[in-house]
Amino acid sequence: MSPAKEIYKCFGCGKSGNSISFLMEHEKYSYVEALRWLANKYNVEIEEKETSPEFKQQQQVADSLYIINNFAQQFFTNILFNTDEGQDIALSYLRERGFNEEVIKKFQLGYNPSAKNSFTKAALDAKYNIDFLQKCGLTTIRDEKPQDNYRERIIFPIHNQSGKVQGFGARIIKSNDKAPKYINTPENEIYIKSKILYGSYFARLAIDKADECLLVEGYTDVISLHQAGIENVVASGGTSLTPDQLRLVKKYTNNLTIIYDGDNAGIKAALRGLDLALEESLNVNLVLIPDKEDPDSFVNKVGAAAFKEFIRDNKKDVVLFQLEVALKDAGNDSNKKSAVVNQIAETISKINKTEEFTKQQDYIQQCAQILKIEENGLHALVNKFIREKITKEENKISREK
Ligand code: CTP
Ligand code: MN
Repeated sequence: MSPAKEIYKCFGCGKSGNSISFLMEHEKYSYVEALRWLANKYNVEIEEKETSPEFKQQQQVADSLYIINNFAQQFFTNILFNTDEGQDIALSYLRERGFNEEVIKKFQLGYNPSAKNSFTKAALDAKYNIDFLQKCGLTTIRDEKPQDNYRERIIFPIHNQSGKVQGFGARIIKSNDKAPKYINTPENEIYIKSKILYGSYFARLAIDKADECLLVEGYTDVISLHQAGIENVVASGGTSLTPDQLRLVKKYTNNLTIIYDGDNAGIKAALRGLDLALEESLNVNLVLIPDKEDPDSFVNKVGAAAFKEFIRDNKKDVVLFQLEVALKDAGNDSNKKSAVVNQIAETISKINKTEEFTKQQDYIQQCAQILKIEENGLHALVNKFIREKITKEENKISREK
C-alpha cells in the first residue's frame, strides 16, 4: 500500500486499486460502506443524498442506539471479567463449556448481573436516554421502575457488517422452565432480524477466502467453531433464511453449506429456505450432525480435525437430499410419488438464470435417475413450472399498470 499515492498493489496476487477498492476487497465493504468508513476515519462529513427529515431523524436514532449498545457491551464485558459475580457465575460457566479467554474476548461476550438494575442505573447515571435504553431492549419497566431486561444472563453482542453492536442475545445460565432460554433485542432501527446473520462480521474474510459459507443455528455454534479454527461460519438464529440474509451470503460466496442437527426440526428448517436460495443462484449443501449433538457440542466432543473431516465427508447436495427425504416419505404410494416429482420439478425450475443452464440440466438428469423416470418427462415438467412463473409475473405486471 502506498499511502502517499493513495493506491495499493498486492505483490501476492497482483491486484491493485485505490483506497476505496482496497477496503472493498479486503474488508468486503460495499462502495457506500467503504466511503462511510473512510469519511468517519478522517472526520470528513459526508452529505447523504436522501435527507428528508424522517430519514435524518431515523439516522439520528440509529446513531444513538449504536452508542448505547457500545456502552452496554463494554459494561457487560467489564462485569464478566472484573467482578466476583461475573467471574464466579458467568466466566466459570463459559469456561466449563470449553470457551477460552481469547474467543470470549473476540466475540465481546459479557454478563448482566442479577441485581435488579445495575446496568440501567449505570446507563442512566451516564445520562443515556431511558426511551432509547428501552428501544435497545436493555431496560424494561417493571413495577413502574426501570430495570435490567437481561438480568443474570450471558450476553452475546451481535455485530453489524462494520463491527458495531446492533443488538444482543442474552442466554439464561441456570435453565428454568418459566424463563426463556434466550432473550433477543426487539426489532428497532438497527436490529432488523431478517437482515442479520450472527457472526458475519468475524466470518466475512474467511468466507471469501474459503469461497464457502457455513451456516449453523446458534451463537455458541459460531463461537465454538471459531475457536476450533473454522472461521467461515455464520448463524441464522434457528429460523429459516430470509432473502436479505441470502443476499448477504452472496456478497462473499455462492457456496452455502448448512450444518444442522440431524433431528426433524433441524432438517425442516434447513429445507424451508431452499427454493429461495436456489433463486439467488446459491449452491447449497447440507451436513447433518449426528446423535442429538449440535455443531458446538460435536466439535467439542470430536475435536477440530475430526469435525472438518466429518463436514468434508458428509456434505450432500441439498436438492438431491430433499428428493431422497421426500421419496422415503412417499414409500410405495404412487399418488405421493407423483407429488414428489412435481415438487422436485418446481424446485429445479427455480434454477433459471442463463449461466446456470448446465446446473439445471445436471439436476434434471440426476433426479430423473433417482426417481426412475424419463429425463424428457421431467424436463417438460420443469419447463411447465418456468412458464407458469413467467405467466404469473406477467399478470402481476399488467395488474399493476
Ligand atoms: N434462539 C433464540 N431464542 C430462543 C431459542 C433459540 O433466539 N428462545 C436462537 C439463538 O440464536 C440460539 C439458536 O436459536 O443460539 C439455537 O437455539 P438452541 O439450539 O436452543 O441454543 P444453542 O445455540 O445450542 O445454545 P446452547 O448451546 O447454549 O444451549
Ligand atoms: Mn448448543
